[in-house]
Amino acid sequence: MEKRSAVILGASGIVGQRFCQMLSNHPYFNITGLFGGSASDGKKLSEVLRLPEYCISQTELLNERINHLDVGSVRKIDPDIVFSALPNDLAREVELDLASHGIPVFTNASANRMREDVPLVVPEVNSECLEMAQGKEGYIVANGNCSSIGLALSLKPLLKYGISDVNVTTLQAVSGSGYPGIPSLDIMDNLVPYIQDEEEKMAREIPKMFGSLESGKIRNSAIKIHPTCIRVPVRDSHLEVVQAAVNQDVTPGEVKEAFRNFISSPQEMGLPSAPEKPVVLREEENRPQPYLDSMAGSPERARGMAATVGRVEVSGRIIRYVTLSHNTIRGAAGGSVLNAELMFKRGLV
Ligand SMILES: NC(=O)c1ccc[n+]([C@@H]2O[C@H](COP(=O)([O-])OP(=O)(O)OC[C@H]3O[C@@H](n4cnc5c(N)ncnc54)[C@H](OP(=O)(O)O)[C@@H]3O)[C@@H](O)[C@H]2O)c1
Repeated sequence: MEKRSAVILGASGIVGQRFCQMLSNHPYFNITGLFGGSASDGKKLSEVLRLPEYCISQTELLNERINHLDVGSVRKIDPDIVFSALPNDLAREVELDLASHGIPVFTNASANRMREDVPLVVPEVNSECLEMAQGKEGYIVANGNCSSIGLALSLKPLLKYGISDVNVTTLQAVSGSGYPGIPSLDIMDNLVPYIQDEEEKMAREIPKMFGSLESGKIRNSAIKIHPTCIRVPVRDSHLEVVQAAVNQDVTPGEVKEAFRNFISSPQEMGLPSAPEKPVVLREEENRPQPYLDSMAGSPERARGMAATVGRVEVSGRIIRYVTLSHNTIRGAAGGSVLNAELMFKRGLV
């Protein structure tokens, strides 16, 4: 199939540059425009790097200029797809405008996530919800919050045990708050036991992700999420301590097997950014760690796309484990790219 043209909104930001990385030399998509705000207006991507230069290896992209976003210019380019890494307050109108003009938008912003007509998709968890876009020329497909995505990915193999409630404590990297993010003096040698809106987002997004598609609409799952979110002085990746209450007896060995054997549609379809194993189980008692496990996932294009799970234990009907996932790759840009690959492979973009 012919490659589709793609534009990145928010290209100078932390998530936008992960898009640049993941879409470099992509077999399905060609980048035809980069847009940002006033700080990056007219600058080359190489002048506003937020990632090591080797991450964005495609020379044309490093030298590509970022244009100040105005929605009319994006419409004029008429891309086949838009990848959005815009701030939430701006994303709502821009994304709705583009979708209403027949352009598919794959977004990381939270602004449109909970709309009834917007599927909130983690490809290995609920790719069937992408059907909501079928037959439409323009639409929005949303990613979850970075901490919701990692949690959903690790809970999916356990759903068969009947999960009712999940207590989760997240230890979240500073890159999760964008660039320049939280002031260094607030986070160096410190941690902050509060992240604005994060707990609310997790509590409402997971039931939508695990919901069922009925007559074109999502009916939320009854699963209850009780999060406590903490910002920690780590550059990338969110670690989550999970306690999931289930309604049947299960052994640690069975839980480990469920994690080990888990694959889903992106793996079955052999999508370019799909990790061979979406959940990597570590048996060592001191894993996962951000420094060692952030980039889990193979092949090369899928690095950072796997969640790593460790410390699996069962007490009564509570399954306990720790999971780690890269917030700007699996939890943001990579999640959108995988959604778009699924849509491409199904002939829907
Ligand atoms: N960071 C994460 O881990 C993460 C994870 C999941 C979802 N998200 C979501 O992804 C989105 C991007 O997050 P981020 O962390 O990449 O933020 P960021 O680093 O602050 O980047 C924001 C981007 O938006 C652009 N922008 C700002 N104001 C603009 C304006 N008025 N018009 C046009 N463009 C404007 C910025 O351009 P300039 O550089 O020119 O200002 C930059 O390219 C947010 O909605 C965030 O909630 C982030």
